[in-house]
Amino acid sequence: CGIVGYVGHKRAQDVVVEGLRRLEYRGYDSAGIALVADGALAADKRAGKLANLEKAIADTPLPDSTTGIGHTRWATHGAPNDVNAHPHAGESRRVALVHNGIIENFAELRAELEAADHHLLSETDTEVAAQLLELEVLAGADLTEAMLRVVRRLEGAFTLVAVDALDPSRVVAARRNSPLVVGIGEGENFLGSDVAAFIEHTREALELGQDQVVTITRSGVTVTNFDGTPAEGQRYHVTWDLSAAEKDGHDWFMRKEIFEQPRAVADSLLGRRTPEGHLQLDEMRLSDQELRDVDKVIIIACGTSFYAGMVAKYAIEHWCRVPVEVELASEFRYRDPILDYSTLVVAISQSGETADTLQAIRHARTQRSKVLAICNTNGSTIPRESDAVIYTHAGPEIGVASTKGFLTQLVACYLLALYLAQVKGTRYGDEIGQVVEQLEAMPSHIERVLADQEAIYALAREHVGTRSVLFLGRHAGYPVALEGALKLKELAYIHAEGFAAGELKHGPIALIEEGLPVFCVVPPAGRDQLRDKMVSGIQEVRARGARTICLVEDGDDAITPYADVVIRLPQVPVLLQPLVAAVPLQLFACELATALGHDVDQPRNLAKSVTVE
Ligand code: G6P
Repeated sequence: CGIVGYVGHKRAQDVVVEGLRRLEYRGYDSAGIALVADGALAADKRAGKLANLEKAIADTPLPDSTTGIGHTRWATHGAPNDVNAHPHAGESRRVALVHNGIIENFAELRAELEAADHHLLSETDTEVAAQLLELEVLAGADLTEAMLRVVRRLEGAFTLVAVDALDPSRVVAARRNSPLVVGIGEGENFLGSDVAAFIEHTREALELGQDQVVTITRSGVTVTNFDGTPAEGQRYHVTWDLSAAEKDGHDWFMRKEIFEQPRAVADSLLGRRTPEGHLQLDEMRLSDQELRDVDKVIIIACGTSFYAGMVAKYAIEHWCRVPVEVELASEFRYRDPILDYSTLVVAISQSGETADTLQAIRHARTQRSKVLAICNTNGSTIPRESDAVIYTHAGPEIGVASTKGFLTQLVACYLLALYLAQVKGTRYGDEIGQVVEQLEAMPSHIERVLADQEAIYALAREHVGTRSVLFLGRHAGYPVALEGALKLKELAYIHAEGFAAGELKHGPIALIEEGLPVFCVVPPAGRDQLRDKMVSGIQEVRARGARTICLVEDGDDAITPYADVVIRLPQVPVLLQPLVAAVPLQLFACELATALGHDVDQPRNLAKSVTVE
């Protein structure tokens, strides 16, 4: 979900709605706003995308106000209808509240309220919190004190942002395991799930810790811990500006972000070498000795980031000779994993807020393991709770389906693998330098792949009637196949599966029917054994009627007789091939979804950062 809060001198409605527009990628099942005007709450909320709310408040304007909150929802409790949309008010309409997360003990609290004859309108856990907060305010507490009393009673993960109809001077928020940042302005202050909410007003932000309550007024920001003791947030300057959060002439953020990849990859490589040619990772807070002691790596992540982790396994094991496990974050904690102080846990998360990943690293730290985050979002929770971090420099990623986030995660994974190899002495400096140079050449290779966009788009448009697509890959091409399939599912809502090509004959080959499109990520020819095995796989599916669409490196013609369509890739080493091979699959999914009339940036049922487990 996306959350906005504002108090200042501008029209709160404009600031809140604009903030919601920039956060809409975080959830778009419903949207709502509440303002404080003339001692009363003025609110509206609508199921569906933000546009529905905007239309409603254009038809029936809200009164002028300079204090307000807003919410864009990814539904957890209760269907995404008008009633369940946020904000929620207490019975007396004194307090309005928006909420992100899940209040785990809400059933008990609800029963308690109902037993005391309070009537709740919606099915949400949020309304329960709104009602509790209002009761505290009615009993005489100011909104800050009321918030402190209520949060101590809540279990689960939540960000809450509230206003009091009789106190337009403040907006009060609380956070536990769910994102919230403060924007510091001149005579105005902001709250947002992330800095995009207020980036057009200020680039000065304040990072909050867990279990903290923050009160913003026009002129100040006060932070306290849940126990009421004073706390301080950490100030930082946001390095990107508004233009990074605009589509810049593209039809979709996703398409813009696909085309930003050469730059994003280059930026993520910047400054990683000392003048003597050694690799350096700025934010690496683990000592060389700690890294030398690592005898096992466990990578945890979700979605696209998980596939980056799969590629990392190939790289780390090859270069560092350390065993690597890759695990879905949501599965990790619940299987009683074997961890100790010599295990390095690597958490990969574009947003830095994914709840499954966050809980997994917390578990790892209780087992004394060191945690290193690979993350794209400064000030987010996962790097904050990790021992070390490698930031990717993709800039803000707004399209829900990750693209530049993924490629820059791959870069960070290669850098980590090479750094470990350097520290452990498993590879010589020359060899490491050579791979870094190969990485530095990747932006221009990616440019080349992007230059073939029209051919991919034409191919995509041929597939509007397709019901199912398969993706095959081997070695580092296997995660690419999985990612290609995920993109198609996410965006085009087409059944798509990625398989390890060698596994095909053990079952999935039964799916092959006449004309079924099968994308085949062919390993570079330099790795002949791998490549030849892939060629056999392609022949097997083609013999059974599949339409083979082969991603093949330049100059490799051995495939041509078995390929119905050839997509050319630049010649790169096998481990680095995902950086170029993923790109045509992104373009394909983006264009096919566009041709089908889907909203590419906001695919149905999804959200950009999933802050509930
Ligand atoms: C969500 C998004 C995916 C993303 C995954 C992990 O499900 O829709 O695109 O890959 O979360 O997100 P993270 O921010 O942790 O990389």
